Formats: sequence, structure tokens, C-alpha cells
Amino acid sequence: MRLAEHPYRKLVLVCTNDRAPGVNCCLQRGALELFEPLKAAVKARFTDVRVVKTGCLNNCGTGVTLVIMPDNLWLGEVTEADIPELLEQLA
Ligand code: FES
Repeated sequence: MRLAEHPYRKLVLVCTNDRAPGVNCCLQRGALELFEPLKAAVKARFTDVRVVKTGCLNNCGTGVTLVIMPDNLWLGEVTEADIPELLEQLA
């Protein structure tokens, strides 16, 4: 193993996990509706921030769950309306 080189200052993890119908999960709470415009907005503004989909982050009841690393900032009930505030957080 070796350290991997990368250009990223921050990493945004967006849970897009799916569960059975009727069971709380980020996918059914709008994760993809958040992920695509968030990724586009971040890419348009930053070259050193990466937005990626993840599996379950174990905060399913308050999804969509999003984590900003390395800040270890965990957010719940994130929606597309939060994108402007998220961009400021990532500056
Ligand atoms: S399904 Fe997203 S935190 Fe569990």
C-alpha cells in the first residue's frame, strides 16, 4: 500500500442507499435529486472538492445524510434547497 496523490481539499459523501419500500433511507428521501445538482454546483465552483455517493451512513431516519470530510461535519435532512449554504461551507 502507498499514499495516493489527489487534488482534493474536501470530500462530500452523499448517502444514496436504498432500502425496502416503506423503510427509511436516503434514496427514498430524495438523495439522487440532491446528488446530481450538488455535484454539478460543486464542480462548477471548485476544482478541489469531490462529491461522491456512499452507502448507508447509519442516520437513515434523518436523511438525506451528507458528510463533509475532513471536517467530520454530518448533516441531515439535506435537500437541493441547501446547495447554496453547502457551497459556502465548502469554501
Ligand atoms: S440510508 Fe442513508 S444514512 Fe442510512
